[in-house]
Amino acid sequence: MASKTVLVTGSSGLVGSEAVEHFDRQGYEVHGVDNNMRRIFFGDPGDTSWNLDRLLRVTQKFSHHDIDIRDRVALETLFRSRRFDLIVHCAAQPSHDKARDIPIIDFEVNALGTVNLLEATHRHCPEAVFILLSTNKVYGDAPNELPLEELETRWEYARPEDYNGINENCRIDHTLHSLFGASKASADLMAQEYGRYFGMKVCIFRGGCLTGPSHSGVELHGFLSYLVKVAISGSNYYIFGYKGKQVRDNIHSHDVVSAIEQFVANPRCGEVYNLGGGRQNSISILEAISKVEQMTGKKLNWKYVEENRRGDHICYISDIAKFKSHYPQWKITFGLDDIFSQIIADHTQRQRSA
Ligand SMILES: NC(=O)c1ccc[n+]([C@@H]2O[C@H](COP(=O)([O-])OP(=O)(O)OC[C@H]3O[C@@H](n4cnc5c(N)ncnc54)[C@H](O)[C@@H]3O)[C@@H](O)[C@H]2O)c1
Repeated sequence: MASKTVLVTGSSGLVGSEAVEHFDRQGYEVHGVDNNMRRIFFGDPGDTSWNLDRLLRVTQKFSHHDIDIRDRVALETLFRSRRFDLIVHCAAQPSHDKARDIPIIDFEVNALGTVNLLEATHRHCPEAVFILLSTNKVYGDAPNELPLEELETRWEYARPEDYNGINENCRIDHTLHSLFGASKASADLMAQEYGRYFGMKVCIFRGGCLTGPSHSGVELHGFLSYLVKVAISGSNYYIFGYKGKQVRDNIHSHDVVSAIEQFVANPRCGEVYNLGGGRQNSISILEAISKVEQMTGKKLNWKYVEENRRGDHICYISDIAKFKSHYPQWKITFGLDDIFSQIIADHTQRQRSA
């Protein structure tokens, strides 16, 4: 049987690199598109070239293309040169704070870049499966409208019916999103449309906090990766508002890619799924700090800033029941302790070899 061909955009980033390694191990011919724009967004700490070098060392059938997803001509040439069976679209401007400073670039990368890829897929390989990594920020502040109660170290949903978190029925309009949330919502809607209108096998994952050792964590993006980096380097960590009790659910990039694999084996047209670590992998910033301190044996220097980030969720837990019901074989395999210890080990190693 001829080997399958996959295109991964954002292939030097957290999720993209996990997908590259995974599908390379499965014997796919893997093509990565990444122009290291994370370095332009976030400066040297966001540089992903170390991860590209690593991928080139550990993979068998991986080719890298230094293409900007805004460049339709370059994408056209790439899509003409081979037929893709699967597109895993992870390239993005990923920070909601950063989008405020670069609204046009944010929209061009997140919204237009996604349409460029959807349209290239539609014209050149309409049978391919297309995965979009969307975000829980498409719900804007709507999840903050749920009644909450304040516990000692975290905010918690006050009503028992909200215990499992936010599901896909949460509304996405009439709310403040941040410009990033709005550009990602545009991409999310267009991807749904290519699935529903053209009958393409499109899947949209609205991510909670996606994490893992391959993140080039920076203050504006990469919650746990950045927290561990600061703890190990001894620099300052800033908490913005909500008393540090804001809650995130965390999912390891391995479990994200295994969800992608499940969808690829049994695709649907234009489905939307919330994808996160769920209740079992939820943690507040204060709780995460104390866990990192415990596991590294180092005290974190943190400072509290009263003003919260605009468009930030207070308590966000992904309800992953819909995906689990469509793909009952999928499960979370990395708990919080595994995630923390892997990120800590990796950062310690990186610091030693720096
Ligand atoms: N990490 C999270 O917590 C999280 C949460 C929800 C959703 N997501 C979404 O998941 C996807 C992957 O996130 P990630 O954490 O792996 O991000 P990442 O920043 O680690 O990786 C994205 C990669 O895309 C590349 N890139 C950016 N703009 C590009 C462009 N114009 N052309 C080509 N390449 C470009 C970057 O250089 C980077 O290597 C993104 O769409 C993000 O919005 C992430």
